[in-house]
Parts: sequence; structure tokens; C-alpha cells
Amino acid sequence: MGKIIAIHSYKGGTGKTLLSVNLAATYARKGKNVCLLDLDFRAPSLHAVFKTSNPEYWLNDYLNGVCEIDKVLTDVTEEHGTSGKFFVGLANPATEAIREMSAKDRKWEMRALGRLLSLKTSVLNDMHFDYVVFDTSPGLQYSSINAIVSADVALVVTSLDASDIKGTQRMTRELYDLFEKKTGILMNKVLANILSSKKEKEKFYKRFNEVHSLPILDVIPCFCDVLRAGGAYIFSEEKTEHPFTKSLEKLTAKIERF
Ligand SMILES: Nc1ncnc2c1ncn2[C@@H]1O[C@H](COP(=O)(O)OP(=O)(O)O)[C@@H](O)[C@H]1O
Ligand SMILES: [Mg+2]
Repeated sequence: MGKIIAIHSYKGGTGKTLLSVNLAATYARKGKNVCLLDLDFRAPSLHAVFKTSNPEYWLNDYLNGVCEIDKVLTDVTEEHGTSGKFFVGLANPATEAIREMSAKDRKWEMRALGRLLSLKTSVLNDMHFDYVVFDTSPGLQYSSINAIVSADVALVVTSLDASDIKGTQRMTRELYDLFEKKTGILMNKVLANILSSKKEKEKFYKRFNEVHSLPILDVIPCFCDVLRAGGAYIFSEEKTEHPFTKSLEKLTAKIERF
């Protein structure tokens, strides 16, 4: 039985999209069958990474009940040369679609949760994916909560920014505690000098394990090379020996043991 991993955060710009894409690509490279879904309907991003995927239907359509999930998914395995199956489902980036998704009411969101839960059965059981990765919207909105509720594992990405740490603390204490979900914190964009030695690393973990009510699953350094690449390609796919790629490989192992 496969696993759904939701990548979430309190604030925007923490690295959810970057980590979702590279995590999915790492799994696929290692021979796992992966499906990556863009559930950030307010700021769709995956269409910019998977430019050649020109879907007939979007995830918006699936949640609206217009089509089934197989119509939304595009097979990008060959293009990315992965040994496992690599599929993506995109969110509609058109302005009109973003506005429409932002205006959905509670009743629609309840139905959308039903659709997400049945997606779980079809994608994991019938299509035999090992992992489904959800890239989500930041914050406490309904659609993010739906994504977290339907996932098996939730990873909350946070930077070292004071407002992000405070917001993440409150969000995880007040919201995640209710879900009783397997949840870990991913501290991202951490300056490399903070992690320069084993001792420094231990100090860092100790300090932030006291700050956060959830376990810190991993700490990912800030890499100028990643920033420089500008998200134009899948970094871990091109730079297989880069420390960022290595840290994602470690992350997949940590999720496995989690
Ligand atoms: N570990 C990292 N090192 C360097 N740049 C990063 C790292 N994580 C994220 N970024 C950069 O930060 C920016 C925001 O990341 P993004 O994934 O779009 O965030 P989100 O999806 O949470 O809004 C992007 O330019 C991304 O390349
Ligand atoms: Mg994003």
C-alpha cells in the first residue's frame, strides 16, 4: 500500500514546491512509482516545471466532478528518464481558474474532500503508485486542510524567519494536534555555517525541538546553486551529485523510517 505525502507550510515561499518536485523526482529515480499533484490552486506552480505536459483536464476539473483522475494525470516518465513511473497532475494557472477556486464555499470544499479521499483509493490501490506527493497552498485555508486530512504523512516546511517559526508553532499546536496525523517539520533554507559540524547540528536540533511541538524530520541547507537554477529544471535530476540532491535522498530514507 502506497503513501500520500502532503507538503505544507504556514507561510509562502518556504520551499514547498521545490521540495515536492525534487522529492517526487528522487523517488522516481530510485525506481518508485510516483504521482505528483499540484493542490496549490491559489498559486499553481507545477505547470512551469512540467512545461510539455499539456493536460486536457486539470485537478480543478477532478475536484469539480467534471472528470476522473486518469484524465488529469500526465505520464512524464520517459521525458525524465526515471526508472519508476512518474506522473503529474496540474492545477489550472489561468487567472479565471484561480479566482474561481478562491471563491469556493464550505459545501464545495466538503465535496472536494470526498473527491480527494476517493483519489487515494484509485491512485494508490488501482493505479499502484508507491507515493503520491501533494504540493499545497500555505496557511490555514480549507483546501490545504483537505490535503492534509487525506494524506498519510504531512511535512510542514519552515524557514528560520521569526514570523514563520511563530506562525508554524501556532498552526501545528492548534491545528495539527487535532488531526493526529504523522507530521514532521522540515526546516529549509538553513544557512550552511549553522550546520558546519556535528556538534553544531546537534545544538540546532536540540534548540528547535524545544521550539516546535512536532519532531524535526530534517534540516535542509540553503544552496545558492538551487536559487541560481531558478526552478527552470528539476535540480536533483540534473545535478545528481550535488549536496541538495544528497539531502533529498536522505529525506526519502527518513520518511521511510518515520
Ligand atoms: N534549500 C533551498 N536552497 C536554496 N533555495 C531554495 C531552497 N528552498 C527553496 N528555495 C527557493 O525559494 C524560493 C521559493 O520556493 P518555493 O518552492 O516556490 O516555495 P513555496 O512553494 O513554499 O511558495 C524558490 O526560488 C526556491 O528555489
Ligand atoms: Mg509553491
